[in-house]
Amino acid sequence: MKRRNLALRETEHWRPPALRDPTAFRRFGDLQLASIWNDLRPLLASETGAVLDVGCGEQPYRSLLTRAASYQGLDIAEAADRFGYARDDTLYVSGYPWPVGDASVDLALCTEVLEHVLEPSLLLSEVRRCLRPGGRLLMTVPFAARWHFVPYDYWRFTPSGITHLLREAGFADVRVFSRGNPVTVAAQKVIALIAPLGGMRIPLVPIAAAAAVVGHWSLHRDWGEDCLGYTVVATRPRVDAQPPVGT
Ligand SMILES: C[S@@+](CC[C@H](N)C(=O)[O-])C[C@H]1O[C@@H](n2cnc3c(N)ncnc32)[C@H](O)[C@@H]1O
Repeated sequence: MKRRNLALRETEHWRPPALRDPTAFRRFGDLQLASIWNDLRPLLASETGAVLDVGCGEQPYRSLLTRAASYQGLDIAEAADRFGYARDDTLYVSGYPWPVGDASVDLALCTEVLEHVLEPSLLLSEVRRCLRPGGRLLMTVPFAARWHFVPYDYWRFTPSGITHLLREAGFADVRVFSRGNPVTVAAQKVIALIAPLGGMRIPLVPIAAAAAVVGHWSLHRDWGEDCLGYTVVATRPRVDAQPPVGT
């Protein structure tokens, strides 16, 4: 068997349609999306302050906010070329620092971004700078997910890795929750095998639909060491930790 050298891979064979409007139909067939939506909905619905959506893409979760919150999407200048995302109301940036005031943000949202950032510590430190003391970061990262947006998908994070990165960046009260469990992962893999098949998938639609039903049911069970990804909440402390003596 001739094996592919993936170090040379520059593209992916299949990419799902851009995520602008997560309809109920799309959420039914995409467990990754559904699990993020379910986790963000109560937290965003109660937010009343300034929200910065870091790596916002098509801003898929903006509609979960009420008018009580103000919203600003931020993304990198390369978002259109690398990810196919371009929106007039997004602030596009190059490098750091971002043109966002110190301590001006109440909630930083960062969904499915960190795996695309070569130096995640730099991004987390910049998020912390923008947050007011006591402000929160609400982040999701994938765990069992295919290599996507190739080649701009660099990492998978574990709860221990995320916690380490966040504490190093000056966050406190780190909470990490799994989205789904091994059953959800199996269901999502069945759907992911069928979805890219185009017209050939029609006879397989009942299998994908059954997998989606089982997957949604499984999202209510918290067990195991495999999952679709993690939802993370962390706080910028009201009083920053003192640097170690001698530094
Ligand atoms: C998979 S998309 C996720 C988009 C959106 N947050 C969502 O949940 O659909 C990854 C996003 O991260 C952005 N991104 C990549 N590197 C970044 C960086 N260093 N800083 C901020 N955003 C970045 C990309 O431009 C892209 O919009």
